[in-house]
Amino acid sequence: MGRSWQNMNHCTRAGGRTPATLALLLSVVSCVAELAWHVEGVTIVGFYSATCPKAETIIQQEVQSRFNSDPTISAALLRMFFHDCFVQGCDASILIDPTPGNTPEKQSGPNLTLRGFDLIDAIKSKLEAECPGIVSCADIIAIATRDAVALVGGPSYEVKTGRFDGKRSRSSDANILPSPDSDVDQASSAFASQGLSLDDLVVLLGAHTTGFARCGFFSDRLYDFQGTGQPDPTMNPALVSRLKGVCPDPASGNSSDPTVFLDQGTRDAFDSSFYSQLQKHNGILRIDQVLQDDSRTSPLVSRFTETDAFFPAFISSITTLGALNLKTAETGEIRLDCRRVNPTTPNPPAIPPSPAQAPASGAPPPRKPSSPPPSRPTTTAPAQPPGSGSPPVKPHKSPSSPPPRRFPRLPLPLPLPPLPLPLPPFRRLSPPANPFNPFP
Ligand code: HEM
Ligand SMILES: *[C@@H]1O[C@H](CO)[C@@H](O)[C@H](O)[C@H]1NC(C)=O
Ligand SMILES: *[C@@H]1O[C@H](CO)[C@@H](O)[C@H](O)[C@H]1NC(C)=O
Repeated sequence: MGRSWQNMNHCTRAGGRTPATLALLLSVVSCVAELAWHVEGVTIVGFYSATCPKAETIIQQEVQSRFNSDPTISAALLRMFFHDCFVQGCDASILIDPTPGNTPEKQSGPNLTLRGFDLIDAIKSKLEAECPGIVSCADIIAIATRDAVALVGGPSYEVKTGRFDGKRSRSSDANILPSPDSDVDQASSAFASQGLSLDDLVVLLGAHTTGFARCGFFSDRLYDFQGTGQPDPTMNPALVSRLKGVCPDPASGNSSDPTVFLDQGTRDAFDSSFYSQLQKHNGILRIDQVLQDDSRTSPLVSRFTETDAFFPAFISSITTLGALNLKTAETGEIRLDCRRVNPTTPNPPAIPPSPAQAPASGAPPPRKPSSPPPSRPTTTAPAQPPGSGSPPVKPHKSPSSPPPRRFPRLPLPLPLPPLPLPLPPFRRLSPPANPFNPFP
């Protein structure tokens, strides 16, 4: 689509009324980015400044307007971003709907209660009207999350864009998400498998400064912790007794599943109060509380309560999260509908295929007949073969560890070579260290 090698015509012309130097600069930046994409998943700040200049504004306005009627959308987006990036990289695989041949990530056990899919749809349709086929669903999630964090008082940060959407989404892939009753060893090894550090774990769990959890994710800590018949001794007894008034005992057969704020201090504000609550043993999920009770992570918890280090650390870690396992032009696409992989043929055949021959993805034809067809068919096999989906898994039980994979790290600052036009042949860009790393 707009990013294909063949469509890099803007690389050879400076844009109309823009002052020549600026136009050249814009053109150079976006050409370097386009080159880089074909090498590995690479993103830059302001990727859409030439191809869809209003993209980030449109996303920001939609998030703001939803936030006005439902402030809890911020937590929903933040969690969606985590689930997207952690499973198969930041490729919007979390958005894919079930089809007859495939049970997607969305329907995995840990999916429960993910929210905000309809907002992504609303944003996507505005963007398709503005610049069809240009803005990826993965970038929408990333930018919307950035805006959501700012709306609840979190740090402002730049988001690199240019992600591609993935073509695979399977329930079983989501088994790598850590369980809420993990200890530090379990959660950190899950994080390590995705290229995230122990510090990233402590920092990113700070996202639990907003939002809520169903009782079902922690009520064992109130009534029968690890088969002892007693509450979790690391939970503040005052909190145990208060939450017993909210959450029914699972053994009682009462299936009601209310919600509790993850940050018992400032529930709606994005701040370091989450960590102060851990020091008071007011963590709701076990994985939250163990950060305070494990000597490898408690120093960072203290640092976040005593200094202003949390925001810069969060910017760094969420930027790392946002760069995990990015797809390339060859392994990804710009989805036309965030809930479906694109049809493998650009134009539907005149005679509709029989159900047996239909693409396993169940993807519809492009919504805009005027959209350019995918210029680079990237797969020979259907992205999601029929029957490949596994049945929904039971939530949060012994995730099987995946083989370690390699992930591209942040490529910024993007080395801007002196650009002789026409452009040189592909070169592999080596990713430099993360400039925001607060843990040198
Ligand atoms: C070890 C890692 C993690 C575990 C086990 C975990 C687990 C959970 C669970 C069980 C819930 C409650 C879901 C519900 O009842 O709806 C939750 C909520 C939430 N999580 Fe996490 N989480 C983890 C990491 C993260 C990360 C890295 C982020 C973001 C950077 C995040 C952001 C959120 C947010 C914002 C909510 C509130 C959602 C809402 O209000 O709808 N979590 N998490
Ligand atoms: C989450 O998974 C459950 C169990 O597989 C499924 O019934 C439910 O519809 C899923 N939720 C969403 C939002 O897809
Ligand atoms: C079930 O639990 C909820 C929440 O604690 C409570 O409001 C409700 O009264 C309980 N129902 C029964 C039948 O005990």
